[in-house]
Amino acid sequence: MSEEKKIESLQKDGQIFMPDVEKREEAWVGGMDEYEVLHKRALEDPEGYWGERATELLTWFSDFDSVLEADYETPEFKWFSGGRTNVSYNCLDRHLVDGRRNKAALIWQGEPEEDVRVYTYQMLHTEVCRFANVLKKKGVKRGDRVALYMPMIPELTIAMLACTRLGAVHSIVFAGFSSIALQSRIDDSAARVLVTSDAVLRAGKTIALKPNADEALKDCPSVEQCIVVQRGTNDVSMVEGRDSWWHDEINAEDITSECPYEEMDAEDPLFILYTSGSTGKPKGVLHTTGGYLTYAAHTTQHVFDVKDDDVYWCTADIGWITGHSYIVYGPLALGATSVMFEGVPSYPNPDRFWQIVDKFKVNIFYTAPTVIRALMREGEEWTRKYDLGSLRVLGSVGEPINPEAWLWYHKNIGGGKLPIVDTWWQTETGGIMISALPYATPLKPGSATRALPGISAKIVRRDGSPAGPNEGGHLIIDKPWPGMLRTVWGDPERYKSTYFSGFSGAYEAGDGARCDEDGYFWIMGRLDDVINVSGHRMGTAEIESALVAHADVTEAAVVGMPHEVKGETIYAYVTLRSGMEPDDDLLKDLKAWVRKEIGPIATPEFIQFADGLPKTRSGKIMRRVLRKIVEGSDQFGDTSTLADPGVVTDLIEGNRDLI
Ligand code: PRX
Repeated sequence: MSEEKKIESLQKDGQIFMPDVEKREEAWVGGMDEYEVLHKRALEDPEGYWGERATELLTWFSDFDSVLEADYETPEFKWFSGGRTNVSYNCLDRHLVDGRRNKAALIWQGEPEEDVRVYTYQMLHTEVCRFANVLKKKGVKRGDRVALYMPMIPELTIAMLACTRLGAVHSIVFAGFSSIALQSRIDDSAARVLVTSDAVLRAGKTIALKPNADEALKDCPSVEQCIVVQRGTNDVSMVEGRDSWWHDEINAEDITSECPYEEMDAEDPLFILYTSGSTGKPKGVLHTTGGYLTYAAHTTQHVFDVKDDDVYWCTADIGWITGHSYIVYGPLALGATSVMFEGVPSYPNPDRFWQIVDKFKVNIFYTAPTVIRALMREGEEWTRKYDLGSLRVLGSVGEPINPEAWLWYHKNIGGGKLPIVDTWWQTETGGIMISALPYATPLKPGSATRALPGISAKIVRRDGSPAGPNEGGHLIIDKPWPGMLRTVWGDPERYKSTYFSGFSGAYEAGDGARCDEDGYFWIMGRLDDVINVSGHRMGTAEIESALVAHADVTEAAVVGMPHEVKGETIYAYVTLRSGMEPDDDLLKDLKAWVRKEIGPIATPEFIQFADGLPKTRSGKIMRRVLRKIVEGSDQFGDTSTLADPGVVTDLIEGNRDLI
C-alpha cells in the first residue's frame, strides 16, 4: 500500500494527527516510507543495521568482532563482542574535540528558582574526572559496585559518569525509597561505596536523607565508605572513618582534574537498576556498556529528533530508567544539551514546568501522563502565562496516555500542532521500543504507534500463536536489540524464568496489548501483579510482604485501583491478627509502616480491613475478584472455585464504606 493510501485508511479510524511535512527534510527519519525501509532493512539484516548504528554513534577504541551472539536457551546475548569503549569517554571526552567543548552539557535548575548551574562539556569533564579520582582513592576499581542514593542534583550525574570512567557499576536507588529498601538493594549488589546527600529539597521543604542512609548502612557490610553531598542546611551526623563530605573529597590537594578512562569491553556491566517484579524481591536489572549506550543514543536521536542546538528536557527522576537513558546517557552521548530539574511540577505553582520551558527555551520536552493529568486539573490558564514557542517535540512515557490528556497536551503545550511521541519501553529494554517518530508517524492519541525500526514487537496468545488485529494478547519482542537487559543481578534463573520462558525465542514484556490493522500498538497494562502508580512500577507482592511484616497483620492482598491522576493507586485488603480491632490509629500506623519499609510511593491510598480474603479451595487468593471490587464492577467471572463465596459480599460492602 502506498503511503497516501495508508494514511487514508488511518484517517478513517478516528482522530489522526499528521506529521509536519515541512520538517521532514531535516528530520532523522522523515516519513513513513523512510521508516518502512529502515524497519525492513533492520529486521532483515539486524547485524548490518545495529553494527552501523554502533559505529556511527559511539567511538570505539577497538572494533567489535561480531555484532550479535544470541542464545535464547541459556539465555545469553552479546552485542558488539570484542569492541572496547568507555561510556564517560563517549559522553564527555570526545565532545571536547568535536566543537562542543564550551557547549552546555547540563543545565541544572534547582528547586529554588535562583539555583541554576550550567556545566559545559569541559566543566562536566573536569568534575567527573575529579570525582572519579575520589572514588579511585577510596579503592573503587573496575567491576566494583557503587550505590547512589541522591536527589536530582548535578552531583548525581557526575557520580554516574565517574563510575563509568573507572568501569565501576552504579546502582541508583531512587531517593524516595526508604532505608529498608535502600539496604536490601545495597546488600544485593554488594556495593563498596555509597554516595548520598544530607537532604532532598522538595516542594519548599528540606527532607533529611542522610538518616536513611545511616539506618541502611547499619546492615550493609559491603559498604566501606559513604560520601555525602551537602544540599541542605540540616544537621548531619557523620560516622568517623566511614563518612566524608563530597566537597572535602573533591577539593583535596591530591585530587586532580584528569583521570584516565578505563577501556571497557562492550559487554562489561554498566549499571544495575532495581525494578519491581511479581514476587517480593526487586530485580537488579543489569545493563552493559556498548549495547546500552548505542541504544540510548540511537533512540534519543531518532525518537526526539535531537539536533545540535536543541535544548532537551526530560522531567523524570534519574532514580528511574527514564532518567538514566534520557537525561544522562542518550543526550550526553549525542553531545546534546540536557536540562535536569530538581523540583516538582506543582511547586510553587502548577506552572513550574512551563516557566522552565520558557526560561531555557526548551525545544524537546519529555514527561509522563500523570503529570499532564495533574496539571490539566489546575486549568489551562497556567500554560498561557509563558511563551512555549520554542517547543518542537513532546514526549510521554510510563503508562498509556489517555486521549483526553493527549489532546490537552497537544493543544495547550503543543499549540495544536506539535507531535507527541508516546514511548513504550521498560527498565529492562534500556530504551524506547515502540514510539512514533516525530516527523514521520501519523499519530493516534492513546497509541504508542509503531515499533521502532529493528524492533520486532508482536502480540501473541498464551500458546504463542499470533493474535489477530485488535485482539488483546501478550506483548513480546522476538528479536534481540542492543539495549536489552543482560541478566538479573545474581539471579540468572530469574532472568530466564521472568523474560524468556513464557514464549520460545522471545522476550516477554509482561504487558498486555493489542495491535490494530495499521500495526499500531495499544498498550493495555501489566499482566503480572505489578501496578503502575504515576508511571512507577510497584510490585504488589513487595507491598504485601511489607504489610504482613507488621505485627498486627496476618494477611494482605494489594491491587491497583483506577485513579484519575495517578493512573492506578494502591488499594490494600488487610486481615488483622485475631482479637485486633481496626481503628484510625492502626490505619495510620500501617500506612506509616509501608512508608518506612519501602517508601512514600508504596503507601496504600486505601486500606480495607477484611475478615477474610477470597480464596480458592487450594488457598490461592483470587486477585481478579479483588481487582473487580475496587473497579466497582460485579463481573467477577467464574467464582465456582471459591472456598467461601460469602467473603465477596462482605468485601463489596467494606469497599463501599471506604470509597
Ligand atoms: O506497563 C508498561 C508501562 O510501564 C512499564 C515499565 O515500567 P518501568 O520499567 O518502570 O519503566 C517506565 C519507563 C520506561 C511497562 O511494562 N509503560 C511504560 N511506558 C508506557 C507504558 N505503558 C503504556 N504506554 C507507555 N508509553
